[in-house]
Amino acid sequence: MSSPFETLWQQRYRDLRNQPPAIADSPVLEALLGHRSVRRYLDRPLPPGTLETLLAAAQSAASSSNLQAWSLIAVQDPQRKARLAALANDQAHIRQAPLFLVWLADFSRAQRIADNQGATLQAPAYLDSLLVGSIDAALAAQNAVVAAENLGLGTVYIGALRNDLQAVIDELQLPPLVFPVFGLCVGYPDPQQPAAIKPRLSQEVVLHRETYRPGEGEAQAIADYESAAAAFSREQGQDSPGWSRQVIDRLQGVAALHGRERIAQTLRGRGLAQR
Ligand SMILES: Cc1cc2nc3c(=O)[nH]c(=O)nc-3n(C[C@H](O)[C@H](O)[C@H](O)COP(=O)(O)O)c2cc1C
Repeated sequence: MSSPFETLWQQRYRDLRNQPPAIADSPVLEALLGHRSVRRYLDRPLPPGTLETLLAAAQSAASSSNLQAWSLIAVQDPQRKARLAALANDQAHIRQAPLFLVWLADFSRAQRIADNQGATLQAPAYLDSLLVGSIDAALAAQNAVVAAENLGLGTVYIGALRNDLQAVIDELQLPPLVFPVFGLCVGYPDPQQPAAIKPRLSQEVVLHRETYRPGEGEAQAIADYESAAAAFSREQGQDSPGWSRQVIDRLQGVAALHGRERIAQTLRGRGLAQR
């Protein structure tokens, strides 16, 4: 009989090449391997203290130089959620989820600290600072995702929040040196429409040892993944052009950026990514 960890592993890879190693199972590993994005939510409020608990988990993530160069906006007002949903490809789950979190790379706080001390900051204008703030925000958000799933909640990231960056900046009244990295829906998953574990690429495709060297078996392993992903889509009742096709469609033309091709310009106007 398979352990819960082994079962989750098999669901994650659906691939005989990737067998679970004989390593101590743990509730944390089970929680991580059991992740799935949730796009159907119950109309049920979150218990008091949920936001603060998610935030404590988020703030417990590592932070580059402990700058803590990120902030969070919790949106619960249905009208504001609806306006943000409209800006993010009209995704219904943003309206449905009781809580919508916007994760920000934030150097405006550092700027206020510097202003108070009469100091000038040069680094926020450099591209690396945008990476620092965005990485900090992403690590924090992922900790919140794991915490939310542990509380029986579901989440889905919303990268489409960057489609119309300027409108989101205006809606959230973001000062210069602040960049909305992505949104995150949080709510109770609708048990009538459960989400499933989406398979991932075989480990041998993703893992390189010592130096970057795509293995000889890469094309075959990707073809096998294609079959597993297609089976997953069929089970979910979704039409899919195939995973490789999706990768190409998403990256081939500028149209698939849905407005995000303008981000560099908007950021430069806000004092970020100048050089
Ligand atoms: C940064 C980021 C942005 C995403 N943006 C969206 C989005 O706008 N809408 C959406 O439905 N899912 C979004 N997702 C969810 C991905 O589609 C999902 O994680 C991926 O298909 C894998 O599925 P899983 O999370 O269920 O394993 C996003 C995920 C990440 C990490």
